[in-house]
Amino acid sequence: MASSASRAALSSIPLFHEKLLKSNRILAVCGAGLSAASGLPTFRGAGGLWRNHNAVDLATPEAFDADPGLVWLFYAYRRHMALTAKPNPAHYALAELARKRPGFKCLSQNVDNLHVRANHPSDQLSLLHGSLFTLKCTTCSWKDPYNIADPLCPALAPAAESNPDPTKPLPLLDPAQPLAEIRESELPHCPDCKTELQRPGVVWFGEMLDEDMLDDIEEWIEKEPVDMVLVVGTSSAVYPAAGYAERARTKGRTSVVTVNLEITEEDWGRMRKGDFGFEGDASLLVPELLRPVIGEVKGEEEEEVKV
Ligand code: APR
Repeated sequence: MASSASRAALSSIPLFHEKLLKSNRILAVCGAGLSAASGLPTFRGAGGLWRNHNAVDLATPEAFDADPGLVWLFYAYRRHMALTAKPNPAHYALAELARKRPGFKCLSQNVDNLHVRANHPSDQLSLLHGSLFTLKCTTCSWKDPYNIADPLCPALAPAAESNPDPTKPLPLLDPAQPLAEIRESELPHCPDCKTELQRPGVVWFGEMLDEDMLDDIEEWIEKEPVDMVLVVGTSSAVYPAAGYAERARTKGRTSVVTVNLEITEEDWGRMRKGDFGFEGDASLLVPELLRPVIGEVKGEEEEEVKV
């Protein structure tokens, strides 16, 4: 465990700023906690349940095969939530860091499109787990890179409804309220092969991440030593994302910086000299941490997404 003296150094904003100002090659690895302040639930811990299903259990090809209607409703609801959410100051701060530091690359596990809507330069952003707004065929190579129809089809309309009685849970989210069964014929089908279902363009458990994207990341890490890795709002439970901080570390040079609502004793204990840990809401901490480079975050202007 870090001693109290080193704990003070680990969470010193002035020391962090000193290091940041000397850092050119910066990697960020982001997770659901980054979008929590935008009102989007995380996967693990509170908020990880959808009706009476564990959110992680619905994110598998097996769950989709077994009940595509249920899995599509879950994703239709997440699409609706993400469309009604707005990027928060942390998304804008990271986008501005990208403009100020060409050597910054952001890897995000988030599929909510909020980085893109905060106008993060696309060549400095890798969406590790895809996007809720990409649709693809379950079988052939058909893909629609950006579709924001909400609802996506009439059968998925319950996922796009506003709550008729805000004193009660949304009927869709209340496990006591039965779901209307959705037949496969009512779900969106591939316009190319015509026979197969469309599915969300996200990476499910057990699936491979995009190989070209993984190669790009490897190449970026290998190219030159990395000065800093920002690990923001992720439980670091899912690989390869969870491995990038240590993968990018050059001993004695790279500061690994954890920004999380909760930093456990174990996390503090793993930190090395020169690392940092900041406990709190990412939407407040990230702009404050990056301020010497990016200035004040403006951030209300969303860019129109170009496909
Ligand atoms: N600010 C900072 N951190 C936060 C906040 C916040 N406001 N709220 C929650 N957190 C932290 C939690 O403490 C937790 O460590 O964010 C983390 C969220 O962890 P997960 O729910 O596990 O999300 P993530 O790490 O993104 O999950 C990885 O797992 O289910 C899959 O594909 C899905 O991309 C996802 C992946």
